[in-house]
Parts: sequence; structure tokens; C-alpha cells
Amino acid sequence: MNPERERAVTEEVVASFAGEDRLSDVLRSLVRHLHAFARDVRLTQEEWAAGIAFLTRTGHITDDRRQEFVLLSDVLGLSMLTVGINAPADPRATESTVFGPFFVEDAPHVGLGGDIAFGAKGVPCRVDGRVTDVDGAPVAGARIEVWEADADGFYDVQYDGDRTAGRGWLESGPQGEYLFWSVRPSAYPIPHDGPVGALLEATGRHPMRPAHLHFMVTAPGFRTLITHVFVAGDPHLGGDAVFGVKDSLVVDVADHGAGTAPDGRDGPWSSFTFDIRLERA
Ligand code: BEZ
Ligand code: FE
Repeated sequence: MNPERERAVTEEVVASFAGEDRLSDVLRSLVRHLHAFARDVRLTQEEWAAGIAFLTRTGHITDDRRQEFVLLSDVLGLSMLTVGINAPADPRATESTVFGPFFVEDAPHVGLGGDIAFGAKGVPCRVDGRVTDVDGAPVAGARIEVWEADADGFYDVQYDGDRTAGRGWLESGPQGEYLFWSVRPSAYPIPHDGPVGALLEATGRHPMRPAHLHFMVTAPGFRTLITHVFVAGDPHLGGDAVFGVKDSLVVDVADHGAGTAPDGRDGPWSSFTFDIRLERA
């Protein structure tokens, strides 16, 4: 096809989405960029078919427990780009990162100082901090949801059965303070036994994420914060498979010897502090 005829196809499709609504706007832009991509790589008929087969496999493995399309968006950096486009305007607010597929509604509630490990394997880890607005005024009663993988790198939902472990929620106290126990975060691979894993393998990419703990913090009058805390020194910080690391979210984790835990635990334990600044809605 000559360049003029190629352009005419694009313009004809763009013109077919003639509405003045947001959906038509988005589709006109999508068509322009998709066609530009095909022209850029001079997409062959075989490559087009391979792409369709890949998306078909992605759909077939997706169900209520496994979202391979989100995973694809994650490894292509689209998830983090969307997080960035929608980031809080105020640079003093705690930065956001990817949500990931392992959040579960109705996780158990614990009081201040409670333990959300519920038997998850790992070194006990004490996490504390304060929830404030961007000027430092305390936010009392914020709902803090936390979830993480165990020392073997698996979330509770990746095991057979319906055990809940390594997740829970608590509320910040009158001065915005919070404190809970869990386990020291571990690095782990994203699910890589499906088409997205095959794509990583075929392109020489690894599936690892650096050690992190997920937070979702909500409070009336504030924007919901979805973020992680990353462990300083993790070897995967410079190569997160889903591009989620931000320097401001990396904290030092202190490791302590046996018999020194403030609540009388007898083995080794770890601790870190993570202060959270919310932007007003
Ligand atoms: C996670 O951190 O839980 C996660 C994020 C993106 C893809 C897979 C897992
Ligand atoms: Fe995670």
C-alpha cells in the first residue's frame, strides 16, 4: 500500500468515530497511535496474527482470581504511566504506585499495635508512622489497608484454601498515629506462568519485584492513596518488573536481635517508620 493509501485508511477510521464525547475522543487518538505503531514497525501479517493469538491466550487465562490483562498493562508500564498522569498535584503528598492484583476486600480489622501477619511466614516486622495532611496536621480515623507477600514470596490468595494472612486494616489514632506488626517484606516474582511471563522470557526480562508492603489509605475529604513502601537495599529496586519504584517510597528497615522486641517477642524482628501525607480531595 502506498503512503497516501495508508494515511487514507487511518483517516477513514478516525472519521468513523465522529462523536463529541470522551469515548469518541479516546478512540480517535487510539486509532491514530495504533496505526502509527503498525506503520512504524511495518507490521507483517504473521506478526499481526501472533499479536491476536497472544491477546487470545491473555483472555483465556484471565478469571476472577487472575487478571492477565492488568499484568500486561503493568509490564508495559501503562499502569505506572496512568498512576503518574493522575498523581496528586501537591508534591508534598505521599507518592502513589501500582495497585497490583492481590488486594482483597473485607480483610480483618486490627486495633493499633495489632498483628496482621495471621501466621504468614517471615521475620516479625513492626511498622509505624503518622497520617497527616500535606501541611502536617494529623488525620485521625484514616482507614489504613495493608497487604504483603510472605517470606516465600507468596500472597495468601496464591495458596490453595481460603486462609487470610499478611493483610488487614486499622485506623489512625487521634494524632494520626498508627502502629501494626506484620512480617519483613520480601521480593517476589509477579505471576509468570502465563502469556505475560512468556513475553518477559522471550525478551530477556525477569519477573521480580523488590520487597514491598502495600498501603491503601482513605479518609473523608482526602484523595485515596494507593502506594507501597519499598525496602532500601533490595537488589531489585533498580529493575522492578512493573516499574513501580519511587525513591520517596524507599525506607530503611532496621533489623534487631532476639529478645529485644518491645512487646516481648523472643526471636529476631525488624522495624520501619512510614509517614503518610494525604492530599485534600
Ligand atoms: C503486586 O505488587 O502485588 C503486583 C503488582 C503488579 C503486578 C503483580 C503484582
Ligand atoms: Fe505486591
